[in-house]
Amino acid sequence: MGESGNRRILITGALGQIGMELLDALQTKFGAENVIASDIRESEDVDNSGFRYEKLDVLDSERMESIIRDNNINEVYHLAALLSATGEKNPQLCWTINMDGLMNVLELARKYKFRIFAPSSIAVFGADVGKIAKQDSPLNPATMYGITKVAGELMADYYHSAHGVDIRGLRYPGLISWKVMPGGGTTDYAVEIFYKAVASENYSCFVNRQTRLPMMYMDDAIKATLQLMDAPSESLSVRGGYNLPSLNFTAEELYHKIREKIPGFECEFVPDHRQEYADSWPDETDGTLAKQEWGFNLEYDLDSMCDVMIQSLSK
Ligand SMILES: NC(=O)c1ccc[n+]([C@@H]2O[C@H](COP(=O)([O-])OP(=O)(O)OC[C@H]3O[C@@H](n4cnc5c(N)ncnc54)[C@H](O)[C@@H]3O)[C@@H](O)[C@H]2O)c1
Repeated sequence: MGESGNRRILITGALGQIGMELLDALQTKFGAENVIASDIRESEDVDNSGFRYEKLDVLDSERMESIIRDNNINEVYHLAALLSATGEKNPQLCWTINMDGLMNVLELARKYKFRIFAPSSIAVFGADVGKIAKQDSPLNPATMYGITKVAGELMADYYHSAHGVDIRGLRYPGLISWKVMPGGGTTDYAVEIFYKAVASENYSCFVNRQTRLPMMYMDDAIKATLQLMDAPSESLSVRGGYNLPSLNFTAEELYHKIREKIPGFECEFVPDHRQEYADSWPDETDGTLAKQEWGFNLEYDLDSMCDVMIQSLSK
């Protein structure tokens, strides 16, 4: 399958923070008629939204199969998942949705030969990773969410090598965006802070000032996703999840940068249980392999990301 317009795409978990942006990008690139968005939510929630929509619980393998078969789907972007903070509240559900959902997609890919994009996360790393996470750093996560992402990477490797499934993945850092609020992750503070600043409200940040985590503006994450899916299969040495180059700044540095642009904005730091998850993750990621194998580079730095977030949310 090449760059041409012959892709017929299904997105799972499409109504989430990444899905709504990826949907736009895929519609623009391949035509709205070739992209089906799906999510567990009722279709009435998204009626008349200008995209094709199917209600799909990823645990319902039969329904997933009928959508894939009836629409000749040849590429699935599998985004449905429970994220870190939500997953810690209900570890069993996190395991079920993240693992059984992925297994359903993988088994159908074996049968129908479609390609898969399945994101991993910096949550695969644990406290032993040190400050900079390399591609081959140890994977000893401290959360159930991270455990599902490590297992998902292993499943990707297995289905690729044992069954020839063309699956690709990225270890997304915390993603900063303005179209949809994030869905229960530990890096959500880096989005919430902009909403409060633009609304001229104070923010109470749930991690401490010194917390430094790998982050990225959403447009860069979408660019990385499209670029990875366009790369020739033989150029890829990783299937489960490529590290990406990322921005890294402390929560306090982010606050100060926003204050440069919105003077008078106030933020206090009141860490809660999510501090522990943040502390178990690296400060930075080494994305050299993504640059070498499929040419990825970041476009946004902290300053330009803050500008675009503030401008977009002010509209
Ligand atoms: N946003 C980030 O910062 C980030 C960072 C690293 C990795 N990721 C990964 O990217 C993917 C998408 O993340 P996101 O931020 O868009 O998450 P999100 O929580 O915003 O969206 C997930 C979507 O999945 C849907 N969903 C939940 N259970 C479902 C089910 N059983 N069947 C179908 N849909 C279901 C939800 O309704 C939601 O719309 C996930 O795999 C996540 O782990 C995200």
